[in-house]
Amino acid sequence: MKFVTLVSMIAALGGLLFGFDTAVVSGAIGFMQDRFELNEVQVGWAVSSLIIGCIFGAGFSGVLSDRFGRKKVLIAAAILFIIGSLGSAIPDTFTGYIIARIIGGIGIGITSTLCPLYNAEIAPAKYRGRLVALNQFATVTGIFLVYFINSGIAGWGDDAWDIASAWRWMFGIGVLPGVLFFILLFFVPESPRWLIKQGRSLDALNILLRIHGEEAAKQEVLDIKQSFAQENGSMKQLFSPGLRIALIVGVVLAVLQQVTGINAVMYYAPEIFKTMGAGTNSSLVQTILIGFVNFAFTIVAIWLIDKVGRKALLLIGSSLMTICLAVIGIAFQTGHTTGPLVLVFLLIYVASFAISLGPVVWVIMSEIFPNRIRGKATAIASMALWLADYIVSQSFPPMLASAGPAITFWLFGVMSLITFVFTWRVVPETKGKSLEEIESLWSAK
Ligand code: BGC
Repeated sequence: MKFVTLVSMIAALGGLLFGFDTAVVSGAIGFMQDRFELNEVQVGWAVSSLIIGCIFGAGFSGVLSDRFGRKKVLIAAAILFIIGSLGSAIPDTFTGYIIARIIGGIGIGITSTLCPLYNAEIAPAKYRGRLVALNQFATVTGIFLVYFINSGIAGWGDDAWDIASAWRWMFGIGVLPGVLFFILLFFVPESPRWLIKQGRSLDALNILLRIHGEEAAKQEVLDIKQSFAQENGSMKQLFSPGLRIALIVGVVLAVLQQVTGINAVMYYAPEIFKTMGAGTNSSLVQTILIGFVNFAFTIVAIWLIDKVGRKALLLIGSSLMTICLAVIGIAFQTGHTTGPLVLVFLLIYVASFAISLGPVVWVIMSEIFPNRIRGKATAIASMALWLADYIVSQSFPPMLASAGPAITFWLFGVMSLITFVFTWRVVPETKGKSLEEIESLWSAK
């Protein structure tokens, strides 16, 4: 157990890096805009360049890790992450920064896909579900942590110092978790499933002995060998009538998780608060509040997800999100942005996301596909998620400038309404069902 805990904590550190590095830019972007005199499209690019790297990292991680092993590719990702953090802290040109962020993004794309996969491959079956949720918990912890750090760093100096140096420290500090991840990876074993695929059953057995004890370990080797027989599903199978619906559910939910606007808030919160009249420091403090609510309600979700069910959480969350976004839009439209109204509804919006789309989409993505196509199908859905994330984070600043905040938030509201309807009509409840029972849902359709 101790061994499994250690290994999953290291893999969870990957989730923390994911949250940390995607959200760090929120504190830096205002200062960088002044430092490099960026227009709205460039501001979008400064935030979304990392996500471009993520799309590629997520896309290649499967092929690379099948070839070289999970562990080596994760170590490579840690190196990319360290280069990315250092590289975005030191450049004197905007292009240098963008290149560094894309490099770091490749590392994040790899860890975001391989850490959960590695966890699932090494953990005993009964802990698998919890590990998916643990990963989301690590992500929101990373986001919360980085908001704190950003606010602390901005307080070290005056405005001129912030514009010249604060953003460099914000990115640079990411080297620390990166190095920690790099070192710890040397203490985890290679995935036994990968070893068996390479014909190295004896090495795999040695690792499984440390997890399960002798009897169970030998059985596990046999089970793994047997499960490979079921896993050669082709791309064509993915589009067969039954499974097509599973694929649609996975991809559409992945896209809806992003186009309902969460990362407009996660990546741009301080900028949103500034447009409402807050100063630099108070905008960073209000952002910490956002991070805290996201963190706290993710814990609530982990507690609720197996009791209330995935579908119920999605329905409750998306309807609350729709209401909040409608109110926020009205507040901007009518100029009621100086009081606490927008902050309060933004917090309820984030809480509603944290109990629903945030964790539930990742859980559903990991459980709705049958064994034989799970790898390919999950990769397609997670690439769709990153692509949608890219579109939202790139277009948010230009949208604010051209269409205005009211229309922008209403648009996210319409997407939340679509999420409600889609969940209600199409998404099945998977709570308490075994993976085999879930599989039979699709053939019944
Ligand atoms: C999403 C991320 C988002 C985070 C916020 C995750 O489920 O995939 O894009 O930043 O939740 O908590």
